[in-house]
Amino acid sequence: MAKRLRADVKKRVKTLVADCGITPGLAVISVGDDPASKIYLRNKLNGLADVGMRAFEHSLAGDTTQEFVLDLIHKLNKDRAVHGILVQIPLPSHIDIDLVIQQIRPDKDVDGLHDQNMGRLLSQGGLVPCTPLGCIAMLRDQLGDLSGLHAVVVGRSRLVGKPLAQLLLREHCTVTVTHSQTRNLPTLCQMADILIVAAGRPKLIQGEWIKPGATVIDVGINRIQTDDGKIRLIGDVDFDSALKKAGAITPVPGGVGPMTIACLLLNTLQAAVTAQSNRI
Ligand SMILES: NC(=O)c1ccc[n+]([C@@H]2O[C@H](COP(=O)([O-])OP(=O)(O)OC[C@H]3O[C@@H](n4cnc5c(N)ncnc54)[C@H](OP(=O)(O)O)[C@@H]3O)[C@@H](O)[C@H]2O)c1
Repeated sequence: MAKRLRADVKKRVKTLVADCGITPGLAVISVGDDPASKIYLRNKLNGLADVGMRAFEHSLAGDTTQEFVLDLIHKLNKDRAVHGILVQIPLPSHIDIDLVIQQIRPDKDVDGLHDQNMGRLLSQGGLVPCTPLGCIAMLRDQLGDLSGLHAVVVGRSRLVGKPLAQLLLREHCTVTVTHSQTRNLPTLCQMADILIVAAGRPKLIQGEWIKPGATVIDVGINRIQTDDGKIRLIGDVDFDSALKKAGAITPVPGGVGPMTIACLLLNTLQAAVTAQSNRI
């Protein structure tokens, strides 16, 4: 599905270049050299090149000051070749991520994390965070109309759980949001027609917690060290036991991750189209 989405974005980029002479451009800011972050960054940059978008890479040293980052964002906000601005998380602890995000122009905030975009989740419009957007696209593709289905979301982060809950409400689901203080998580999970897990806890969800036939989306990405010392990525769901109960389930790696990147490309395209129509 991610491949299909990327092919569609590529076609639309081609048309935008041919008809309006506009190449969508995304600026990506990273600070420091977190190894996992570097891999995600590389995947995003490859994705941009693949669909014919322009990438403006700003890989900054770990001791870069907050003032420098804010100044860079103010410059990118004014740059007409830059349609989207993405700040790669995590940032070093001396930089206030919330402050940084709020400085990005909302119409260039392709991660959908600015307060204005978060607020718009309650109605319509705005840019929607990429991971939740990808989850909803997969659910629609798999299940069609989601009306009336009971969706249980495990995790209430600003990046995933909270926006997902709003998007599921838009789809007319009945939504239960759970978190680390939730009592009796297994019983709540067993009631879910749709179970979306974004807790960052390896194999938190067991197969017996899943209603037979339920659709399971595993957002979690956990790095664990295997007995032979290698690093392996696993999700928040115990995939092998869940596979026996679920009607459909996303794998880790290879499920939500590629959809998140495809949705980032889609949001960058949307930002470029909006910028163009505002100019006309
Ligand atoms: N595939 C992708 O593209 C993608 C994108 C984003 C994130 N991720 C992955 O998704 C996971 C979650 O990311 P995040 O940014 O949302 O993490 P986060 O900010 O750490 O939030 C985790 C959420 O899970 C809840 N939680 C923790 N332990 C729990 C438990 N035992 N039972 C129920 N809820 C529990 C926390 O509850 P409290 O609020 O009570 O603390 C919190 O709301 C991570 O593994 C991350 O790497 C993947």
